[in-house]
Amino acid sequence: MIRVAAVGDLHVGPDSAGALREQLSSVPDKADVLLIAGDLTKSGEQEEAEALARELMGLSIQVVAVLGNHDHHADRPEEIAGLLREVGVAVLEGDAVRIDTPSGSLGVAGVKGFGGGFAGASGAEFGEREMKAFIRHTKDRAEALESALTSLETEVRIALLHYAPVRETLLGEPPEIFPFLGSYLLAEAVDRSGADLVIHGHAHRGTEHGVTPGGVPVRNVAQTVIHQAYAIYGFEAAAGRRKPATAGAQGSQDAAPSARASER
Ligand SMILES: [Fe+2]
Ligand SMILES: [Fe+2]
Repeated sequence: MIRVAAVGDLHVGPDSAGALREQLSSVPDKADVLLIAGDLTKSGEQEEAEALARELMGLSIQVVAVLGNHDHHADRPEEIAGLLREVGVAVLEGDAVRIDTPSGSLGVAGVKGFGGGFAGASGAEFGEREMKAFIRHTKDRAEALESALTSLETEVRIALLHYAPVRETLLGEPPEIFPFLGSYLLAEAVDRSGADLVIHGHAHRGTEHGVTPGGVPVRNVAQTVIHQAYAIYGFEAAAGRRKPATAGAQGSQDAAPSARASER
């Protein structure tokens, strides 16, 4: 079974030293890869990314991440990504990575994603320049996700996002802010290209389980949602249909198929 550990919204700052390393120390024994679904830092400052890099340094497992909106706040996302790449983290944005595990090949396609809302309650590329730019950015990121997923020829394919592709995993958040938490365009991209699981974060008060209209399982792994250091999802790669299994407590696995703060 391919085992994937996932968590989002770590919001690491210089004051987080040591805590995360301890939380993640068991990951290499329990999973083949660790996915981090954005908001790696509190506000995208260099010292925060350096603190995270120190926590992840020496972790004997491939770490794959996307950035979140917090990692963009200081307008230096490339710098944040660069600091993490220096310690071996695969930071994705419109691209994909292949990981060969003892149980089969795993592909992860990553984009931050963006907002805009969901079917029947979404923004449109119309009117003010700013509004058009907002929705265009979401469309652009959805297209990048589709092409990254399509490029993968692995037994298992995962879409790694920060923003949500479906409403279901936002339940618990005020409905008024759903358009700022994700977009249905991301789910459409996943359904067109196909995937075995979508991982996202950003909705700190959301819900773990959801599904795209095309039937792809979605998991919100914001740390405040999963209430543990990381969640684990397992895939039987060789047995024809791939089945994501959910984990309850940190590191424990359930073979059943299926797949808080004010700032997010
Ligand atoms: Fe966020
Ligand atoms: Fe967050």
